[in-house]
Amino acid sequence: MERGSQFRPKILGFLCNWCAYGGADLCGVSRYQYPPYLRVVRVMCSGRVDMGFVLRAFQNGMDGVFVGGCWPGECHYITEGNYDALAMMHLTKKLLREIGINPERMRLAWVSASEGVRFAEIMNEFSAKVRELGPLGKGEGLDPQTLAVRLEAAAKLVPYIRLVERERLRPPVRTEEAYNEFFTGEEADRIFKELVVSRLVENEVMLLLRKGPRSAGDICGALGLTISEALGYVNPLVRDGLVRYDVEHNRFALA
Ligand code: FES
Repeated sequence: MERGSQFRPKILGFLCNWCAYGGADLCGVSRYQYPPYLRVVRVMCSGRVDMGFVLRAFQNGMDGVFVGGCWPGECHYITEGNYDALAMMHLTKKLLREIGINPERMRLAWVSASEGVRFAEIMNEFSAKVRELGPLGKGEGLDPQTLAVRLEAAAKLVPYIRLVERERLRPPVRTEEAYNEFFTGEEADRIFKELVVSRLVENEVMLLLRKGPRSAGDICGALGLTISEALGYVNPLVRDGLVRYDVEHNRFALA
């Protein structure tokens, strides 16, 4: 595996124009050192960073994604976009965990424009963490095809997850503690698993079958499921007429 001194991770950073970007700029002009792995996208607020952006970054070969925003209470917009970023971070980490990607490949941090040292420290820590995790996919023991199918299935689910978030995943108050407590709590986990996970696996099955007919064993191997789990997801797709079972070749295919 490409770890240790050989591996130079690719990290994409979405930095809020008003704070983290200023912190990164101050870090640069002050000549504080951090590894040269970061590529920066400047956004007007961390709340602008959608889950789809993070997944697309991973689909395009990034090994880590960083989001930098203003400290809670200091967002420059009345919508307090940094709380949206915090919710997005929690949900994205849940999704990454479900598709077998280490959620530590994503990090959200608050950095003000005067915190150049803090920016360098965070980037040093995060770069070391991503290097330790290894290249995306290889570090998780996923082959490139499985990684691509899982990321695409997750990306297709983003609009639906936004809907679930709006309807069912609303923390009671806008404080960082309340958000962290809510999104790491049992109720949010239960709702996420109940409403999101089965759709995610169905998407993965459909994407896999789009590449050609597969036996139940192939589906298990590609998606890391047991036979009964795989059939539990495939049979409803057969019932709904989206997938057909080819008896002669003992394979499932798109209808
Ligand atoms: Fe910086 Fe909203 S303006 S996080």
